[in-house]
Amino acid sequence: MTARKIIIDTDPGQDDAVAILLALASPQEIDVLGITCVAGNVPLSRTETNARMICEVAARPQTKVFAGRSSPLQRPLVTAEHVHGKTGLDGPDLFEPAMPLQSQNGVDFIIETLRAEPAGSVTLCPLGPLSNIGEAFQRAPDIIDRVQEIILMGGAYFEVGNITPAAEFNIYVDPEAADIVLKSGTPITMMPLDVTHKALTTPPRIAAIRALNSRVGDFTADMLDFFERFDIEKYGSEGGPLHDPCVIAYLIQPELFSGRHINVEVETQSDLTLGMTVADWWGVTDRPANALFIGDLDADGFFDLITKRLARL
Ligand code: RIB
Ligand code: CA
Repeated sequence: MTARKIIIDTDPGQDDAVAILLALASPQEIDVLGITCVAGNVPLSRTETNARMICEVAARPQTKVFAGRSSPLQRPLVTAEHVHGKTGLDGPDLFEPAMPLQSQNGVDFIIETLRAEPAGSVTLCPLGPLSNIGEAFQRAPDIIDRVQEIILMGGAYFEVGNITPAAEFNIYVDPEAADIVLKSGTPITMMPLDVTHKALTTPPRIAAIRALNSRVGDFTADMLDFFERFDIEKYGSEGGPLHDPCVIAYLIQPELFSGRHINVEVETQSDLTLGMTVADWWGVTDRPANALFIGDLDADGFFDLITKRLARL
């Protein structure tokens, strides 16, 4: 099986960090062409630094990391330091990465790569607000049909919102970019809160990662120990939802996940429900299906995959 070529678009973020580690630990299945960073959980200056730090923790300093947009397409940036801490990677001892940030802008890298690689051979994996993808599609509509698939973390239906009562963070920060992506016609697989809230970092699961007794295992367990406190306090859950690694795990073991191919649209006008993803799960409209909306996963299998792959780094 040839490795699938992907671009990870991300706003690290502890859960983004685990997704990046999982991807870099899986070269047989995944060829990471580049990591493009976007403002989201924390400002761009932090997300790009965090992405390079994670690549060094994974001992993959040759990975190409790019800085993309520092703000949404049309709105002021909303960040989530209350969840991720001021650095975006609170928990472990952090350090200044030595590996370089690529000089090319991340959005330009997305456009150039999709034009250079064979049509239908590159998958985009957005793990944060869709600002970079939205700008790329606006500036270079010719690349849209060249995308193999977009597998994104974002949205919610039965789980409703996490940043407002109606909206999930990634979609809420840049609803206009999400609207461009959802209406693009590109094959889309969505990992909404409906599935990620079933992927909880319970104490036994974090203990299994810490039991790796490795730099990567300790760094990851320290991140998760910090990251989960917010959701445990808010939801009274037994752990924090490991959102973004669902995207990468789906690439490696899609059978861990299940969902429906349905219509999903996003609210971009209402102040009350801005960023809400309206998912026609029950097929009550004649709106065409535009996304595989994932609703469930084998959580034990998911964490088993993550732990085994982290052991490789
Ligand atoms: O709502 C969860 C999403 O927002 C995750 O991608 C998390 O990293 C934040 O970006
Ligand atoms: Ca993220």
